[in-house]
Amino acid sequence: MAPTTSPVPPTLAAHLPTELLIGGHWRPATGGGTFAVEDPATGAELFDVASATPEDGADALAAAHEAWPAWRAVAPRVRAEVLRSVFETVMARIDDFAALITAEGGKPLAESRAETIYGAEYVRWYSEQAVRINGMVRTAPSGANRQIVMHRPVGPALLVTPWNFPLAMATRKIAPALAAGCTVVIKPAGFTPLTTMLFAEVVRAELESRGLPTGVVNVVPTGSSGRLVGPLLSDPRLRKLSFTGSTEVGQVLLKGAADGVLRTSMELGGNAPFLVFEDADIPAAVQGAVAAKMRNAGQTCVAANRFLVHESVAEEFSRGLAEAFGSLVVGAGSAPGTTVGPLIEAAAVDSVEAMVADAVDGGARVLVGGDRPDRATHSGHFYNPTVLTGVSPDARAVQEEIFGPVAPVVTFGSEAEALALANGTPFGLVAYAYTRDVDRAFRLAEQVEAGMLGINRGMVSDASAPFGGVKMSGLGREGGEAGIEEYLESIYVAL
Ligand code: SIN
Repeated sequence: MAPTTSPVPPTLAAHLPTELLIGGHWRPATGGGTFAVEDPATGAELFDVASATPEDGADALAAAHEAWPAWRAVAPRVRAEVLRSVFETVMARIDDFAALITAEGGKPLAESRAETIYGAEYVRWYSEQAVRINGMVRTAPSGANRQIVMHRPVGPALLVTPWNFPLAMATRKIAPALAAGCTVVIKPAGFTPLTTMLFAEVVRAELESRGLPTGVVNVVPTGSSGRLVGPLLSDPRLRKLSFTGSTEVGQVLLKGAADGVLRTSMELGGNAPFLVFEDADIPAAVQGAVAAKMRNAGQTCVAANRFLVHESVAEEFSRGLAEAFGSLVVGAGSAPGTTVGPLIEAAAVDSVEAMVADAVDGGARVLVGGDRPDRATHSGHFYNPTVLTGVSPDARAVQEEIFGPVAPVVTFGSEAEALALANGTPFGLVAYAYTRDVDRAFRLAEQVEAGMLGINRGMVSDASAPFGGVKMSGLGREGGEAGIEEYLESIYVAL
């Protein structure tokens, strides 16, 4: 492994917020508690971060609630300009954000730069949407009156974000909320709070410089999420919950949100099928497969999880994928040349290893990988990119979300069989398909049970498009025109 450079440049480290942002002020947690944020490439501790208590959570919600009347009264054009300036600041500081994303999340620097651009794009998109919150006027069918539909911000929102995209998952929620006129309390993931905190500081400084209420964005990192989030869900000042994470945690939060009858947006787990048909361009499918599988070392909800390949092209595709995986460079995200970073924690490596062992026990063959790199050179949480062929459709790696750099290949004989395999899961976030047949592409768009479909593309994520799933993969959409609607409620006036 190439030598690593320091993951957080000293000039950035010296000014990094590590406390709670409540009512426009950074302050320690009540009682002074902290938790450690580590570099997954080495296991070394990076920073101690304030650990918000339930009292801090209540203070943050009070601040968001207090700032709400003033913020919703700010003209849409001004809200748009705030977001536009924040977009520009994030882009101007792309090196800082990328360094931080790599330091706490582990992804290669090139991917962290890509995440910074992707995350900033949500802010730019919603700066453009803030002035396009449309209503509706029409004559009632009876002719007796007019119907007017207006939109209002739903109110203070709790945003709970995951560790795998600490900037983009925060901006995907904060930007539409602010554009709509909502205020927020955000609880970033314990593994990667610092990127979100730096972003919040950019927003706070922008609001302050314009004399706007600074309690619009509040940040409460914590080492004990359940204790913090639970009471907030039943607080009547909270009107909205948006969560990205596992289906299991989403189910718990939905139950909690039922008490307060909160508006909810849930972006939950996936088990994405990647279909390769007999008429596919196989080199393009291999390239798309690497993109769909290996972003963030396979740790994304939209990662291709199951490679369903027509039996006539399975060997060519699997060989190509194994060659491509074999040429990837596993190492610290900050090391030059790295293309695959570490997994987020030791337990994640154990989990991936157990799934590979289960597949091999069931008859699968390891074409490449199937093990951890040498600990003498890779002391963090690493697993080698792995391609498995001859995998049973019942294997855990096919049935469960892998969240690691493992590609199980399962073969099919017909389009009907491929669709049955693709849809044979409780999840439905995204699917990918490689085919040259336009009719088939449309049949898939109509029949694949997923909220998103990539045709001859290994990447669907785009700030201007509606991201979200069906079945147990979630509720609601983020991004695009739809994303802001999650933070608005419609008011109907009969006139
Ligand atoms: C996720 O993994 O939840 C999000 C990935 C993306 O936005 O592309």
